[in-house]
Amino acid sequence: MRTVGNATSYSQDHANLIYLDNAATSWPKPPEVTEAMVHFMVQVGANPGRSAHRLSVEAARIVYDTREALAELFHILDPLRIVFGYNVTEALNLALRGVLRPSDHVITSSMEHNAVMRPLRALEEQGVELSVVPCSPEGFLDPDDLEAAIHPETVLIVLNHASNVVGTILPVAEVGRIAHEHGAVLLVDAAQTAGAYPIDVQALGIDLLAFTGHKSLYGPMGTGGLVIAPGFDISRLEPLKRGGTGSRSELEEQPDFLPDMLEAGTLNVVGIAGLEAGLRWVRARGVEAIRAHDVSLAQRLIAGLSGIPRVAVYGPKDAELQTATVSFNVERTDPSDVGLRLDEDHQIMCRVGLHCAPAAHRTIGTFPVGTVRFGLGAMNTIDQVDEALAAVKELAEEIGR
Ligand code: ALA
Repeated sequence: MRTVGNATSYSQDHANLIYLDNAATSWPKPPEVTEAMVHFMVQVGANPGRSAHRLSVEAARIVYDTREALAELFHILDPLRIVFGYNVTEALNLALRGVLRPSDHVITSSMEHNAVMRPLRALEEQGVELSVVPCSPEGFLDPDDLEAAIHPETVLIVLNHASNVVGTILPVAEVGRIAHEHGAVLLVDAAQTAGAYPIDVQALGIDLLAFTGHKSLYGPMGTGGLVIAPGFDISRLEPLKRGGTGSRSELEEQPDFLPDMLEAGTLNVVGIAGLEAGLRWVRARGVEAIRAHDVSLAQRLIAGLSGIPRVAVYGPKDAELQTATVSFNVERTDPSDVGLRLDEDHQIMCRVGLHCAPAAHRTIGTFPVGTVRFGLGAMNTIDQVDEALAAVKELAEEIGR
């Protein structure tokens, strides 16, 4: 099988290390990402959109080219409807706080990350009504259950595209159709899918899409943002912050046009330069090819883990219905002990515990202990999956002795 990444991108120091924590952040990054960031720091360095000199113009070009690459990835025509921010959490806060007002009703699923749940709980304190639609123990959401929760005050539906705990893909297209039939806005948290799974914002009926740059787009941390679908009325979005934009500087009020309305202060251009290189890397391989690679590795991982005695696998257990994120537990063993042994004895890096998603763990029945999570990415290989399976088998056999 062709791998889409290149495990040799690991530095010499980490040549034997197996990184399976891509759901937290992808690593290693393509070398071009680091090169683009160094190029920005050494050769450009200026503030975009603030000055007219050549370095500022070059910085602005990098930012615009990155917006264009993101617009192409998410299938929207106008790059100015891509708003940069610090991360997907900030973008979700912007969308939720920007749209919802006291007495509005918002619906979400029981599989959400705290990046959705915590802003929603805080808004609940301020008079927003919240409904959390229960999902199945595999993390599936029945769109009929969601539709049943809609009432005349429903303003917004927010869902993750895929669970960060078990990878379950939620039925965004069906929910998009339901949302629009009832005049509600659909906000999607694409933290786990942007770059790893095809996303056509308009075809899926998404109004607002929050994305991160540092996971499957292979950019650095500190990058992410919000995609605002064509047709979404931006006057419905209250900015999260206000400040300098380099535009309409005669005004003491925030500009009312995109992206400046929602991008106050100097952008993380060194990060955006890296993100642009990450996007180029993803585009060169193709999201469909990356998805095929993930499905193939995840299927092998799921089948292998499911065949190990004393190991319980969670989620859909079908790579076509999930991302390449797989959660499991070893009988009578705390996930953190498994994680420690995998790291110390096998050089396997993974994430254990609740993954900032207590609601999802309650749904799949693993709260409060959590799970061991392997998050595969484009850089992983079949050999690494097989080594990880052998390590888990060894651990599980020890428990059985
Ligand atoms: N939300 C990220 C994760 O699932 C950090 O690990």
